[in-house]
Amino acid sequence: MKIAGTGRAMPSLSVNNDMLSVILDTNDEWISTRTGIRERRILSKERLEDLAVSAARAALVSANVAASDIDYMICSNVINNFVTPSLSCIVQGEIEARCPCLDINAACSGFIYALDLADALLKTGRAHKILVLCAEQPSRMVNWKDRSTCVLFGDGAGAVVLTDESEDFKAFKISTVSKTDPLYYQRAMEYNPFVMLPDSDAPMIMNGKEVFKLAVSSCLSDIKQALSLAGKTVADINYYLLHQANLRIIQSIRELLEISEDKFPHNIERYGNISSASIPVLLDELHEAGTFKKGDTILMSAFGAGFTSGACIVEWSI
Ligand code: COA
Repeated sequence: MKIAGTGRAMPSLSVNNDMLSVILDTNDEWISTRTGIRERRILSKERLEDLAVSAARAALVSANVAASDIDYMICSNVINNFVTPSLSCIVQGEIEARCPCLDINAACSGFIYALDLADALLKTGRAHKILVLCAEQPSRMVNWKDRSTCVLFGDGAGAVVLTDESEDFKAFKISTVSKTDPLYYQRAMEYNPFVMLPDSDAPMIMNGKEVFKLAVSSCLSDIKQALSLAGKTVADINYYLLHQANLRIIQSIRELLEISEDKFPHNIERYGNISSASIPVLLDELHEAGTFKKGDTILMSAFGAGFTSGACIVEWSI
């Protein structure tokens, strides 16, 4: 599998920490020192579907691949306007692709899980060109009155076009451990005359400290296993693209691996945590900036609700 092109689309509304301090008992100093986040993008006028379509189109242009040539689409998404049909069905129509489509929900690890699925499809010859799209809107799940969760998240979409032209992916390690309490969001139920509705219709619930610890330990374990599977050392990696959830999580992992800061690019300061879209958006920004050279080895690692996590190693070839 080869990454042939990348794309992203972000909402136009930027909400900085000072704007949050008007509606919440918080301030820029607390948010930026505890998380590294200074602003995030929030969907207001646009729809998530529009963002997803723009990111998909950008990736197709970047790969120089026509939508009609895509033979499979995987969309990673936790929540959107529709329970059904899937977001990928909506995007497929808008971009005029004709391939089978499905959505997956592996929370913030969704990009790595989608890449792993795509790799399997390409290896078996069931597909030759796959669009992986991550489109996320955590702003519709968080409790905007809970300062310990809502300040962390933002919306956005990132995409990649994958082809079977070369074998650039050197290792995958994905894991799931059923630990649902630290982070969950319950869907509200429609009125049903035969069922007593539960009392609570709670927004996202998160135990930040527990998630922090799980994130560091799972990420470290995945990174070490992926390196071992690829026969590489920590020093062989040119760039570590980690899920952008908290700059302190990224720094803790970096310090434990004893690697210099320049190998850990980040954009969390501008976008907050955009769930599974975090890594593809960062990947696209770095690709656009010309950061990667042909032959660079990149390790991507993410974690999220579930508890899910995953890492993969790719050699850059565009
Ligand atoms: N502004 C000001 N104060 C805040 C605040 C905010 N936005 N949010 C929480 N606080 C307060 C708390 O109420 C608490 O006050 P108290 O000591 O009077 O009770 C204090 O700050 C410390 O809170 P604590 O929860 O101990 O902070 P922390 O250092 O653990 O940081 C997180 C909190 C959420 C930033 C951190 O735990 C984290 O990032 N966890 C991982 C979350 C994550 O990544 N989730 C997504 C995974 S995909």
